[in-house]
Amino acid sequence: MSSTLPLTSLVNFLADDQLNKAQLLALIELAINIKKHPNDYSQALAGKSVAMIFEKPSLRTHVSFDMGINKLGGHALYLGQQNGKLGERERVSDYAKNLSCFADLIVARVFSHDSIQGLAEHASIPVINALCDVYHPCQALADFVTLSETYADLSQVKLAYVGDGNNVSNSLMLMAATLGVDFTLICPAGHEAQQDIIEKTKLLAQESGSKLTLTNDINAIGKQDVIYTDTWISMGDEDSSKKAEILAKFAPYQVNHALMAKAQASMVLHCQPAHLEEEITTELFDSELSKVFQQAENRMWAQNAVLVTLLAN
Ligand code: NVA
Repeated sequence: MSSTLPLTSLVNFLADDQLNKAQLLALIELAINIKKHPNDYSQALAGKSVAMIFEKPSLRTHVSFDMGINKLGGHALYLGQQNGKLGERERVSDYAKNLSCFADLIVARVFSHDSIQGLAEHASIPVINALCDVYHPCQALADFVTLSETYADLSQVKLAYVGDGNNVSNSLMLMAATLGVDFTLICPAGHEAQQDIIEKTKLLAQESGSKLTLTNDINAIGKQDVIYTDTWISMGDEDSSKKAEILAKFAPYQVNHALMAKAQASMVLHCQPAHLEEEITTELFDSELSKVFQQAENRMWAQNAVLVTLLAN
């Protein structure tokens, strides 16, 4: 196990802009090392218990945390909403304080980033954000693990995200800017990233020397190595009366073979679940260009790197 990680100051994993480039690179390296040598880490969480709060549905996040923790010799407990909605039956602060009596770490997928912040503020144990309305840092970390497996030098990679400006694109652009990856965000008008995230990303990109392009024009995609997309309607944003309008507005932003060819891109990524024939064609999702299952697997290795780091402190 590496003992030279610049990560000793890390107490939580809440949002992408809380990690610097050296910390991100160290987590990526650790994730790849755990993936290559899982037996070396099989007791890393021995005797440790992780409470996992899920306010929203999940396949990859739930399974990858549960099985990942098991692979590290730890114990994971799934907490759905059977004990009442977070903050309603009991205050977020009481959730955090109670879980701190029994568990060694909290993983939480929540509707509002305020809940993540409340948990972190009141828990005496580390908290990992497993998706909220603003960030999906576990996904972005796994994505840069996936990119590192193909590209030796991330600073040479040109990454474009096409679709809804959401939690996934926020995390991806913040991490790209920190790591020095050129990033293009292409969203339909009215669905761009939120302003505070754009401002934070601009500052990080300035610091790392990477290029940040924000546009509504799908024809301005330019040359890219990788194109990334996500659902046009995120969990919690569903409004059936708006669905037809969203589908029509986003249709020109579908990621398909024609867009890949136009950008000369050689890889497509998607955090899943995919809405086939909406944001991505089935043909492209199932093609050789698609690394979506490598991405899904890397959720587990990336999260294990975070778990090992937070619980080693
Ligand atoms: N943006 C999506 C990501 C799902 C993993 C959502 O929040 O629903």
